[in-house]
Amino acid sequence: MKILVFGSLNIDLIFSVDHIVRPGETISSSALERSAGGKGANQAASLAKAGMDVYMAGKIGSDGKFLLELLESYGVHTDHVAQYEGATGQALIQLDKNRQNAIVLFSGGNARITDDEINGALSQFGSGDIVVLQNEINRTAEVMRCAKKRGLKIYLNPSPYDEGIAKLPLNLADAFFVNEIEGAALADLPPETAFPTIRERLVKKFPHVEIILTAGKDGAFYGFNAVREKGNIIDLPVADTTAAGDTFTGYFIAARARDLPIQEALTIACKAASIAVSRKGAMASIPFAEEVFD
Ligand code: RIB
Repeated sequence: MKILVFGSLNIDLIFSVDHIVRPGETISSSALERSAGGKGANQAASLAKAGMDVYMAGKIGSDGKFLLELLESYGVHTDHVAQYEGATGQALIQLDKNRQNAIVLFSGGNARITDDEINGALSQFGSGDIVVLQNEINRTAEVMRCAKKRGLKIYLNPSPYDEGIAKLPLNLADAFFVNEIEGAALADLPPETAFPTIRERLVKKFPHVEIILTAGKDGAFYGFNAVREKGNIIDLPVADTTAAGDTFTGYFIAARARDLPIQEALTIACKAASIAVSRKGAMASIPFAEEVFD
């Protein structure tokens, strides 16, 4: 089984600040780091570090070549990452003293995916393979339709959530990976709704889609048909929550691909995410398989 992650590759600029800047305010940062990120690339890295056969598709500028080198060093195949004359996607990340973050995205190459690139990448995959998608590239609906026609399973992480998500062919998906904000929005519920309620609403609204709801320090919830499971995080000091969800997604998919039961897959994915949260940065914070699997 091959896994294609069709998604974003970003250069993350991490500003360490006292607090998230307020409207009209100018503040200084105590440190600035430039590192590898993007939800797509992070999830590809997580899957590869977890031992899966992973292919990345997306688009970068010449400033993003280091992202390919890093992904390749983890074993990700990058032949389907196109290059163009413009800039790679960027994420301006403020990381405050309480380890909260706020992120501003510049889409760059992520928003310039063409139909030819979609058809070219998907032509190499078929029945039994999986495509993993987020919401940081253009033409996600087209990728979903093309993947469905070719018989791939579609795992969608509708993040960051925006009004475009409702317009996607959501019923083509086989699994949703959502946090509480994305889950509540998808379920048409207010953001503060209890996790089990969000899960129930999603299971009812999308009966053919596996629901994986990540819940920060409350772990993760799973729902599909009559199955309900819950996983818990492990208690480690928090350094930076960036890419926790991406780490979880990669490890959950990898654990299920190893035929682990859902409960164990949730436990593994929560452990991987807990380790990632204890380290600074996005892609670099994702643990390797030997740190996670017993
Ligand atoms: O999920 C974390 C990622 O979101 C960061 O790496 C940043 O690039 C943004 O895309």
